[in-house]
Amino acid sequence: MPGTTSPFTDIARSRRSPRRFLPTALSSSDIRGVLEDAQTAPSNSNTQPWTVHVVSGAARDALAKDLLRAEEEGRTSSDFTDGYGEEGVYVERSRALGASVYRARGVERSDQGGRRAAVRENLEFYGAPHAAFLFMPALGDGVRTAGDIGMYAQNFLLSLAARGLAGIPQTILGVYADTVREFLDVPAELKLLFGISFGMADPAAPVNTLRTERVPLQRSVVLHDTPGVLDRP
Ligand SMILES: Cc1cc2nc3c(=O)[nH]c(=O)nc-3n(C[C@H](O)[C@H](O)[C@H](O)COP(=O)(O)O)c2cc1C
Repeated sequence: MPGTTSPFTDIARSRRSPRRFLPTALSSSDIRGVLEDAQTAPSNSNTQPWTVHVVSGAARDALAKDLLRAEEEGRTSSDFTDGYGEEGVYVERSRALGASVYRARGVERSDQGGRRAAVRENLEFYGAPHAAFLFMPALGDGVRTAGDIGMYAQNFLLSLAARGLAGIPQTILGVYADTVREFLDVPAELKLLFGISFGMADPAAPVNTLRTERVPLQRSVVLHDTPGVLDRP
């Protein structure tokens, strides 16, 4: 009914990215359900351009090891460029997020060892028992396809949240694309946009107390002949 909240609102607003997971593996029916929900995502011309690899158990452990070795040896191989520019609102928000994560972890940003440890925790899937890798074909400049992968990923994350589970998308897993492709035997034509580590969030981990904020609607939305919507702050 218009104007009422819904279970969806609760799920969307309570979803968070944990950075420490319990090691408990999810049931095959939960994983299947999440994959089925994600598969319903809309895409340009219904192209459904996602190819998704999920690792668990021994495969998960072995891939984490390979990623850590690639990090030690400086073997980065991102399929896409990074960065938010030198200055401006996006780099400011990114820095604010970084500072909040380090604060929640109890690490000084200037602490090089602590920063490296944070990178390595990323590559160990933050302790999650499962990780999904989202690959896409290289079509045109890739932007439309990447948008489709984003649709898929948000379905995936909200499906986890609806089940009391959680996941964190991780661009950093795509920074080691060649390592991941080699391990999973994925052809070079498929580009790795990002991974999602998932499982059950560790409720006792200090880093999971982090709550990110959003800018007010007024900073993101411009309304035309749509009165009343932004009247309250
Ligand atoms: C595409 C994408 C890539 C991300 N990559 C990383 C990552 O590599 N490492 C990480 O710790 N968090 C990563 N995040 C998590 C974001 O920092 C997080 O979504 C954001 O700060 C908002 O917090 P929330 O998800 O808890 O609402 C990524 C998020 C997205 C959507």
